[in-house]
Amino acid sequence: MDRIQIRGGAKLNGVIPISGAKNAALPLMIASLLTDQMLTLENLPRLADVNQLARILGNHGVDYSIDGKRVGEEAASGQTAHLRARTIVDTTAPYELVSKMRASFWVIAPLLARMGEARVSLPGGCAIGTRPVDLLLMALEKLGATIEIDGGYAVVKAPKGLVGGEIEFPKVTVGGTHVALMAAATARGSTLIENAAREPEVADLADCLNKMGARVRGAGTSTIEIQGVARLNGAHHRVLPDRIEAGTYATAVAMTGGDILLEGVGEDLIKRPLEALEEAGVTIVGDNRGVRIARNGAGIDAVDVATAPFPGFPTDLQAQFMALMTRARGTSRITETIFENRFMHVQELARLGAHIKLEGDTAIVDGVDRLRGAPVMATDLRASVSLVIAGLVAEGETTVNRVYHLDRGFERLEEKLGACGADIIRVPG
Ligand code: EPZ
Repeated sequence: MDRIQIRGGAKLNGVIPISGAKNAALPLMIASLLTDQMLTLENLPRLADVNQLARILGNHGVDYSIDGKRVGEEAASGQTAHLRARTIVDTTAPYELVSKMRASFWVIAPLLARMGEARVSLPGGCAIGTRPVDLLLMALEKLGATIEIDGGYAVVKAPKGLVGGEIEFPKVTVGGTHVALMAAATARGSTLIENAAREPEVADLADCLNKMGARVRGAGTSTIEIQGVARLNGAHHRVLPDRIEAGTYATAVAMTGGDILLEGVGEDLIKRPLEALEEAGVTIVGDNRGVRIARNGAGIDAVDVATAPFPGFPTDLQAQFMALMTRARGTSRITETIFENRFMHVQELARLGAHIKLEGDTAIVDGVDRLRGAPVMATDLRASVSLVIAGLVAEGETTVNRVYHLDRGFERLEEKLGACGADIIRVPG
């Protein structure tokens, strides 16, 4: 298994191109099941999760192809993929596939909408908490589906088609909102989603669905209205930039010092994390190429954060911010409100010399003057990258094991950081 080896101490300077967002790409790819015509997605990131989902969709009958390299394209350019589900050949998503990637459960919505039935394995345990799917099933039920749990599978049926309805989520759920959107797009009549997730990836999915002929209004706010249409067509859509990748590199330069341009991302996507970094002493300047992040000379100030649904501080940047706070002057409190048990990085950061105490859903981080390199590993991708950030300033060598977690969500991480001066290599194993 590959490892990432880092020698800490180098500042980061240069340009980091930001890839297409993993968490937008996945629901967009799944939306291809809604039509028998071609969906073309540009700026698709090169990630293990994208490849895995392509295999899963292939099982349902989606033909998937990636364009070859074009004139003027660089390694950093996103890929263009064509997805076409001319015929759905299988409405079952088996355990072996769904258990590898939670988001693949979301195929339940387009399969049900198009075929009147679906049988999708419940995703099961997950490293960052229980992560149930009750709200996703509730949304489908509100649109007229019957639901049965049988042998570890959710069996959903709507033989006469889905019917628009009112879905009010008791809790903000990104996956629930994606599922509700995809199911309602071709339901008879209109659907109202209340307390919808406002994440930019939801708005991106709605945007693509509208290009396919859907009638969705209000995505990006907490109330979404969908007027069902009889059928959806093919479309061309460009995947929005990855705000979590951008926030991760912003946090990395805050940690090492230096000056980085995050190319291709707008400040609006990462407003709250940038505010937290600014409070910590980082200088931020937006321009038409992206966002510049710099920290020169000054130390890192301790800042408290609590995760919240968008536009709040993202849970997917919590581990990275905690890594930064391990070197801050003073004590910071980091509260995780979205997922219980998303603190696996705490023990590993401690191996590098961090002082962190857990009190329920809050980590109390006492900043230290130095971290020291060590072998570490983590069980999810954001936790893994927090260890990379810590390794960038740790004295000596840090080896991050189980790199496949990083490959699920970060495109060419070691190349992007290496090009900006980090001493980081991948050791094949
Ligand atoms: C999405 O997961 C993201 N995944 C996650 O990113 C992200 O952390 C999360 O949203 C929150 O922003 C993708 O987009 C592929 P939720 P999702 O439904 O949709 C509870 C990463 O590292 N809940 O918004 O699964 C749930 O337990 C990943 O890229 C229910 O109770 O998250 C959680 O507490 C990790 N019942 C909260 O809602 C349900 O039926 C929010 O989860 C569904 C969710």
